[in-house]
Amino acid sequence: MSDSLYPVSDEWARRARVDAAGYEKLYGRSIADPGSFWLEQAKRLDWIRRPELAGDWSFDEEDFHISWFADGKLNVAANCVDRHLGRRGDEIAIIWEPDDPNEEARRYTYRQLHEEVCRFANVLKAEGVEKGDRVTVYMPMIPEAAFALLACARIGAIHSVVFGGFSPEALAGRITDCDSKVVITADEGRRGGKRVPLKANVDAAAAHARAMEKVIVVKATGGEVAMQPGRDVWYHEAAALVSAECPAEPMGAEDPLFILYTSGSTGKPKGVLHSSAGYLLWASYTHELVFDYRPGQVYWCAADIGWVTGHSYIVYGPLANGGTTLMFEGVPNWPDASRIWQVVDRHQVEILYTAPTALRALMREGDAYVAKTSRKSLKLLGTVGEPINPEAWRWYHAVVGEGRCPIVDTWWQTETGGQMISPLPGATGLKPGSATLPLPGVDPQIVDAEGTVLHGATEGNLCIARSWPGQMRTVWGDHERFFQTYFTTYPGKYFTGDGCRRDADGYYWITGRVDDVINVSGHRMGTAEVESALVLHPKVAEAAVVGMPHDIKGQGIYAYVTLNTGCVADEALRTELRNWVRTEIGPIATPDALQFAPGLPKTRSGKIMRRILRKIAEGEVSSLGDTSTLADPAVVDDLVANRVG
Ligand code: WTA
Repeated sequence: MSDSLYPVSDEWARRARVDAAGYEKLYGRSIADPGSFWLEQAKRLDWIRRPELAGDWSFDEEDFHISWFADGKLNVAANCVDRHLGRRGDEIAIIWEPDDPNEEARRYTYRQLHEEVCRFANVLKAEGVEKGDRVTVYMPMIPEAAFALLACARIGAIHSVVFGGFSPEALAGRITDCDSKVVITADEGRRGGKRVPLKANVDAAAAHARAMEKVIVVKATGGEVAMQPGRDVWYHEAAALVSAECPAEPMGAEDPLFILYTSGSTGKPKGVLHSSAGYLLWASYTHELVFDYRPGQVYWCAADIGWVTGHSYIVYGPLANGGTTLMFEGVPNWPDASRIWQVVDRHQVEILYTAPTALRALMREGDAYVAKTSRKSLKLLGTVGEPINPEAWRWYHAVVGEGRCPIVDTWWQTETGGQMISPLPGATGLKPGSATLPLPGVDPQIVDAEGTVLHGATEGNLCIARSWPGQMRTVWGDHERFFQTYFTTYPGKYFTGDGCRRDADGYYWITGRVDDVINVSGHRMGTAEVESALVLHPKVAEAAVVGMPHDIKGQGIYAYVTLNTGCVADEALRTELRNWVRTEIGPIATPDALQFAPGLPKTRSGKIMRRILRKIAEGEVSSLGDTSTLADPAVVDDLVANRVG
C-alpha cells in the first residue's frame, strides 16, 4: 500500500508557497524556536494589541495550563470581515448554493457581509446578549448561519453550534450544558428536497432546555411555524429595527470564541472550547498552507457548519484569509450523483474539500456522473474526517481530478481546531491513504500502551508532544474532565484517541480510533451515548454498542441489546429501538445492526468484554481470543449464532 508514491508535480513545486525545502525549513524553525516562529505567524492577524507572548503551556498535572498570545487583543469578526473592506470590499466573500439546483445562487461581497454581520450583532444585542454569553445556533446551511457565528464573535458572545440533524433531546442537552439563553434557528432547513423542522425541534427541546429564554428565527423556507409571543422573534423583523453598524468588541486572545460539542468514549458529549486568537490563527495558517490558498480562488468545503470542519474551513479560515468560500445547502446525491461536480462547474471551484464517505457513496454510482461534467477549474482536492481507503483516494485522484490535482488528506480533530497532519501540495509526495507529514508546529509522537515513545517505522497510539495555538482550552464547565480525558493516559502529552502507523519515510497513517468512539460517515459517535439512549427504552435491560466495518460510512453502529424479562424480541421491536435512538440522538446515531442478546460477555467482575463484541460485529468469529475469563463463556456461542448482517 505504501509503495505507490505520487510525487509533487513540477508545476506545483513552482507555484506553491511552500516547496519541499521550504517545508523542511519551516518545520525545523517551528520546533527549534517556537516562540519566534509563532510571533512571526501572529502577524497574519489584525491585532488591536499585538502580542509579545507566544505559547505559555504545560501538560503536567502540577502546572497544567495552555495559553497563546495572552497579552494580545483582537476581534475575530473584524479579522474575518472588516480588515478586508479596504482592498477587497467588492470581492465575493460567500457564494451560497441552494439545495434546489433550479434556484439562483446568492453572493455576498465583503461589504455586504459586513453589513449582514453588524445587523445580526445588533439584533443579538437588542435581545440582551452580552460579551461572554452563550448563544446556541441550530441552523441549516444558509448564509445566515455564517452571519450568526460572526455576529457572536463581533460582540464577544460564545457560539455553540448544534448540527441541524440532532434531535430535540440532543439539542436540549447542549443548550442546558452551556446555559445558553438565546437560540438562533430557522423555520425549516432543506436537504435533498426534504424539509427539516428546525423550529419545531427547538419548540420540542424547550421543555428540557430551561435556560432558553429567546429564540431568534430566520425565515428560510417560509414554512408554517408556531411563534411563542415573548420568547420567539423573527429575525427579519428584528433586523429591520437595528443599524447596520456595530463596533467590534476588543477581545483578549484567550477569551473563548466558541463551544462545540463532540462525542468521547465516556459520558455525555463534551463542550470543546476554543480560544479567539490561537484558534483563528490556526484556522487561517492551515487554510493558507494546506490549500495553498490565494484570494480570488473559489474554495469549497462541502462540510456542514454543525461540525468543526464547517467552523474552521467554511467560515473562519477562508474568511480570515480574505477568500471566497462556497456554502452548499444540499447533499451530494440529490437530484442525482452529479450534483457536486455540477456545483464545481457552475461556480468554477478551484479547491474542493470533502469527506471519504461522500466519495465512496458517489464512486458507487459509477463514473458517468462525474464524466459528464467538466471540472476543469479544479486544482486541488482535499479530504477529512476519517481514513480514506486507497481505492476511494485513487478514484478521487484519477476520475474526479483526472490526475491533475494533488489530494491533501488532512488529519485533525474537533479538539485540535484545525489540520495537524497533512501534505502540502507543493512540498509533499502523496501516498494514497496516508495523511503524510505533520504541519510546521505540530510535534506528533507514537507511543506504545505503556507510553514509551517509539521511533522510526512503527505503530502505536498517536500523541502530540507540545501545544499548538489551535488547541482546545478546556471542556466547558469541566476543566478536570479536560485534563483527565486528554493528558492522563500518557502523562505530559496530548492523547488523540487515534491509532497510527509511521512508515520508513516518516509518513503517518491513521488507523482509526483506539477508544470507544465510532467514526460514522466521518462523524464521531460515542458508544456510551448510544448505549444510554437504548437503555432509556422501557423494554431494554442492557446494551453494548461497538463499531463494525461499513462500505460507505467507514464504520457503522452495531448494538447488542438485552431485553427485560418477558419482553419479546421481534422485528417490530428491532425497528422500534432503532427509531428510538434516532429520536433520542438523531439519524446519524441510528444503529445499522441490532442484535438481541440473552446475555453479554462479561468478566467475573462484571466488565463487558468489548473486544469480543467487536470481533463478532466485524464477522471475525474465528479469532475471538481467550474467552475463558468470562463469567459465562456460553453467551459467546449464542452471540455468534445470532449475529446480524
Ligand atoms: C478521524 C474532524 C484519518 C480521527 C476534523 C479523528 C481522520 C477524528 C482524518 C476526529 C484523516 C479525521 N484520516 N482519520 N484525514 N480526519 N479523522 O472531531 O479518528 O469530528 O480522531 O474532527 O476523525 O473527528 P472530529
